[in-house]
Amino acid sequence: MTELSPIPDHVPASLVYDFDVFAAPELHHEPHRSAMRLHKDAPRVFFSPRNGGHWVIVGAVEALEILRRHDIFSNTPEFCSTLRKPATLPNLSDPPDHTEYRRIINPAFTPGAVNAMEAGIREMAVALIEDVLAKGQTEFVADIAKRFPVNIFLGMVGAPLSDRDYLLEYAELGVRHPTREGRNEASAELGRYVMRAFEERRRKPGTDLMSRVLAAEFQGRKLNDEELLGMGLLLMLGGLDTVASMLSFIMLHLGRNQGQYRELIEDPSLLPAAVEELMRVHGVASMQRGVTHDNEFLGIAFKKYDRLHMLPQLWGLDERIVDRPAAVDFRRETSPHLAFGGGPHRCIGSHLARVEIRVFLEEWTKRIPAFKVAGDWDGRTSGGVVWTPLTLPLEWKTQAH
Ligand code: HEM
Repeated sequence: MTELSPIPDHVPASLVYDFDVFAAPELHHEPHRSAMRLHKDAPRVFFSPRNGGHWVIVGAVEALEILRRHDIFSNTPEFCSTLRKPATLPNLSDPPDHTEYRRIINPAFTPGAVNAMEAGIREMAVALIEDVLAKGQTEFVADIAKRFPVNIFLGMVGAPLSDRDYLLEYAELGVRHPTREGRNEASAELGRYVMRAFEERRRKPGTDLMSRVLAAEFQGRKLNDEELLGMGLLLMLGGLDTVASMLSFIMLHLGRNQGQYRELIEDPSLLPAAVEELMRVHGVASMQRGVTHDNEFLGIAFKKYDRLHMLPQLWGLDERIVDRPAAVDFRRETSPHLAFGGGPHRCIGSHLARVEIRVFLEEWTKRIPAFKVAGDWDGRTSGGVVWTPLTLPLEWKTQAH
């Protein structure tokens, strides 16, 4: 864990709670079940003295209030000071700029556009499953979860599948290299990849997402190189680790809860509701905001430049928005959650992520009637900006057995 920082004068002792959002011990094993205790033990909005000192938003109700107020809780680099450069777009901007940036990429993520990709997504899911099917086992994270979304991203931006392993390596290093220099170097390499790809599309425009970004207008002009880089990086990274991590947590749950897996095999029409319910309890991505001016909100005195770390991972587990939050039940009437955030920055890829996960589960359940998590799995997960199982060995009976 990081050092303890002094508590600023404007933070009352009653709101201080020691929890390291990146390195708390409970994030390394069953993070949702363990960190859910924060709903009982900690204030809904508390100040953590770790990582330089910042607010942590645990409550779903408070989160929704905060996400609506971008005038107070900003996404711009000026206020979210710890965030990486370049500013990834549209994420690190506030309305009205944000609205215009987002309009550029929105057409690629509408339900209609994503539904048109479904057959291709299904082909990729089938190919990855067929690759491991006869072996009766897989290290799910490396063999499938990480490869699946990167394949889809490459298709969307019109890049060759042969770029996959290179991108996977640097995307992983950019998030999980043990040193800051290592993470920065990997991100710089990804940035060079993005700019080379834009250069190629500039010479030979197509109908892919990167060509669309190049052709777009922002406030009556084309995007400059820094904006292209920020947008290309987020488009590339936004859907990789998040989908891989969520799918891995979901498979972990189904591998351990074989009765629930059987329910899906016996009644595939349950799948869309099951995906929603499994997403509710397995949020993966955190978010940040920075305070734009001194003010009182939710009864708390915030100061300009205070930082907020928001934990959507826990919002679907808040008993104020859902009954029996820890129980996974595919037959709930609704599975309210905020795994995709809320307000103007709500995940633009949410429909795509849902389709990816549903289609994957449809194809897996068709081929594998029962599976389990290997008995010798070490159960290690990683905290950080995106929570994820580090590995996930799965086993099933093959026809040969
Ligand atoms: C299960 C998978 C996913 C999860 C849990 C997830 C989660 C999130 C969250 C919580 C946000 C809000 C960030 C904020 O408010 O600061 C977000 C934004 C975003 N996501 Fe996702 N995401 C997922 C999949 C995807 C996919 C497949 C894409 C496609 C490329 C994507 C692209 C983006 C982009 C571009 C934004 C920024 C939107 C904006 O700021 O307006 N995400 N995501």
